[in-house]
Amino acid sequence: MATLDYYGHSTFGITTDDGTRVIIDPFFEDNPWTEVGPSEVEADFIFCTHGHFDHFVDAIAIAKNTGATLVGTFELVEYAQSQGVENTHPMHIGGGWNFPFGRVKMTVAIHGGRVYGEGAEGFTTNPAGLLFDLGPGKRLYHAGDTALTMDMRLLKGKVDVALLPMGDNCTMCPEDAVTAIEFIEPSVVIPIHYDTWPYIEQDVEAFRVLVGDRARVEIVEPGKGSYEF
Ligand code: NI
Ligand code: MN
Repeated sequence: MATLDYYGHSTFGITTDDGTRVIIDPFFEDNPWTEVGPSEVEADFIFCTHGHFDHFVDAIAIAKNTGATLVGTFELVEYAQSQGVENTHPMHIGGGWNFPFGRVKMTVAIHGGRVYGEGAEGFTTNPAGLLFDLGPGKRLYHAGDTALTMDMRLLKGKVDVALLPMGDNCTMCPEDAVTAIEFIEPSVVIPIHYDTWPYIEQDVEAFRVLVGDRARVEIVEPGKGSYEF
């Protein structure tokens, strides 16, 4: 059994079958969704989809606290190394790697490339999505921040659980997320990247209605139990 903890916005913790703790897009400090602070977070691996503060702000501190391996695009990892993070794993879009807990592939995302942080002025990168293969029924796609893309068609049949942004303004809107679901055909969809700030406010129950029978929409509330898969 793998468990998925949602900390709001785009931040997740996965505990895999073998007990590995994976954090995706660590945004704890100043995240209105969660009371959990970055110093309380345990991690073996930290994956970042891109360098914007709401996906990356706590990555370096958590990596240093825990000794976790920070995984991101080559440029993002290069910046983390420049800040003293010792354990890193650079990847890039289209590539995958067999980690001890499962395979992870970096997928296309269309969004901004700035890296947030002290001394990060010289670093930009392409944003990415992440496709985790944790075993049968446990293929999890975290789309990162992205527009609807035709590339999502390539994920058809490869995803069980899709974490899809639908907040609009910075990423897909609910209608575009529905088209993404039609492209990908996941069993379960967890909406992300909404309600954190006024300009991404959405009605998730209306989103559930919009999705209809295309997929099961799981609305995971931060701090109210884990999603098991
Ligand atoms: Ni972003
Ligand atoms: Mn974002």
